[in-house]
Amino acid sequence: MTEGVQTPSAFTPRVFSGIQPSGGLTLGNYLGAIKRFVDMQDSGVETIYCVVDLHAITATLFEPETLRRQTRELAAGYIASGLDPAKSILFNQSQVSTHAQLAWIFNCIARMGWMQRMTQWKDKAGKNQQNASLGLFAYPALMAADILAYHGTHVPVGEDQKQHLELTRDIAIKFNHDYGVDFFPITEPVIEGAATRVMSLRDGSKKMSKSDPSDASRINMTDDADTIAKKIRKAKTDPEGLPSDVKGLEDRPEARNLVNIYAALNDQSVEDVLRDVGGKQFSEFKPMLSDLAVEKLSPISGEMARLMADPAEIDRILSDGADRARAISEPILKRTYEIIGMVGA
Ligand code: AMP
Ligand code: TRP
Repeated sequence: MTEGVQTPSAFTPRVFSGIQPSGGLTLGNYLGAIKRFVDMQDSGVETIYCVVDLHAITATLFEPETLRRQTRELAAGYIASGLDPAKSILFNQSQVSTHAQLAWIFNCIARMGWMQRMTQWKDKAGKNQQNASLGLFAYPALMAADILAYHGTHVPVGEDQKQHLELTRDIAIKFNHDYGVDFFPITEPVIEGAATRVMSLRDGSKKMSKSDPSDASRINMTDDADTIAKKIRKAKTDPEGLPSDVKGLEDRPEARNLVNIYAALNDQSVEDVLRDVGGKQFSEFKPMLSDLAVEKLSPISGEMARLMADPAEIDRILSDGADRARAISEPILKRTYEIIGMVGA
């Protein structure tokens, strides 16, 4: 078992996580999510990973062909990064109807006030909340359903998803309490490592995001070697050299971000990286970082392109994963209906 999967619980440990197919993958998605998903699949615990296409349409409705391509690309990104469909269950959310069905139940458990406090709702809805979709508001209840439909106990995510996981716990607690059962587990977020919050290369106070208007702010998983090197060369830094201990990164968000990225890509602790590079100037460190990034990312983007040339094979993998996902989540939904008092369940 990996470090993150140790909390004692009456439930069998099971890892669940998901990513939205809402556009290209960034280095933030890779280090904050996918790489850690892959690391957990050898932990001895069942791992279930989802392409959350129902979530992807909460903020924007895509051209149907675009959504299909993005869904397959994300599946290809998972597999190219080392996710093995024989070891993990990999599928897209809309193929398994238990997610939407359980989400409805959770819509009736969660309170308006809980949803209104979600920072992602406030950020994504912006000033014009009246014009946001109802799905965007209910997004965290669907996310809770994703996890709890499998009795997921551990959820690896980036820092930005912490609040949604607290809400997942609140939903489980209220359901268990209101029906006097101990049916849903109280899920543990797994937010660990050097890269739980990869920042923009242009502004160390902003998260690296696929929706940032500046392409120079992020590394895309599909960027070629020259583009990666150029973006890292131009990344914002301060005039100081690199410190030899973590304390020396305080109040230096850009420097800290580049060191965190290096550590996460190289499977090292930040302390170990600084022991090696402390005292160097950025002019020397940046080429080291771009060589490392190219070495780690190029094989993944190459493999993604190869997989994308055979979309039928990706669809076959997703469909097989959906069958396995249904086999776990359908009995859990049925039992939920029984607990609630739905006739025929
Ligand atoms: P999303 O693309 O918003 O569906 O995010 C998918 C996963 O990537 C989630 O677990 C996020 O927390 C994670 N993630 C996205 N951006 C970053 C980032 N800049 N740093 C770390 N993790 C991230
Ligand atoms: N909300 C997550 C994100 O934007 C994606 C997500 C949907 C998810 N369902 C999930 C993550 C279940 C973990 C578990 O990143």
